Amino acid sequence: MLEVVDLEVRYGAIRALRGISLTVKKGELVALIGANGAGKSSAMMCIAGALKAAGGSVRLVGEDITSGKPESIVRRGIATVPETRDVFPDLTVDENLTLGGYTRRGDAAGLAEDRAKMFALFPRLAERCGQPAGTLSGGEQQMLVIARAMMSRPKMLLLDEPSLGLAPVIVDQIFAMIAQLKAAGTTILLVEQNVAKALSVADRVYVMRLGRIAASGTAAEISAATDLSALYLGAEP
Ligand SMILES: Nc1ncnc2c1ncn2[C@@H]1O[C@H](COP(=O)(O)OP(=O)(O)OP(=O)(O)O)[C@@H](O)[C@H]1O
Ligand SMILES: [Mg+2]
Repeated sequence: MLEVVDLEVRYGAIRALRGISLTVKKGELVALIGANGAGKSSAMMCIAGALKAAGGSVRLVGEDITSGKPESIVRRGIATVPETRDVFPDLTVDENLTLGGYTRRGDAAGLAEDRAKMFALFPRLAERCGQPAGTLSGGEQQMLVIARAMMSRPKMLLLDEPSLGLAPVIVDQIFAMIAQLKAAGTTILLVEQNVAKALSVADRVYVMRLGRIAASGTAAEISAATDLSALYLGAEP
């Protein structure tokens, strides 16, 4: 589904991504973990077209999408939930969902069906469908941005730190919903600092450190790796 080869991102003189390669197969949930500043969000934003690549390539189902415009990347099938968790605060929950489906405006029946699916997956959103999104709790806003991204019927979903700043009980709920999306066949690339949670839902894992992939393997292999904490804390492996 997704093939990233030697991807590089720079902010002026800062090399945030120093050539990372990763793949995500159809139906897989792949987690990208690593300490603060490892380059996880830079990788995600570059795949989504929000940052230009300084080198390397991104292919989606064999098609080169490197440094494409964000809207064209959404149209080709990648929906992104950035760590900023930005709802349209003055619009209702329902209106936020409608905007998530803007690339499919002509498909009223399909949009109605997807809205119903999202309300079934996130009952809290159904209860609050007429409420301005800015008045939702942090956890509810996280549910809304995930549901909104799903309204574009993406081939693939990119999630950046869905657990950020949320209480443990809410994090559990969000991860249960991510597991349900995966079970329904959604292909997911998940960026997380919460290693235990990421390992609990992921098929495969890439560990990033200082702009590079420091380790990769199945969730079971990475869980068993004795040097994981060293990698994670930034010590030399
Ligand atoms: N707009 C920017 N300008 C300059 N440097 C940046 C910018 N955004 C990120 N960086 C730098 O790039 C590196 C990677 O940042 P990035 O946000 O990708 O890390 P991250 O792994 O997502 O971290 P976190 O877990 O804290 O979200 C960091 O050293 C950061 O300071
Ligand atoms: Mg980040």
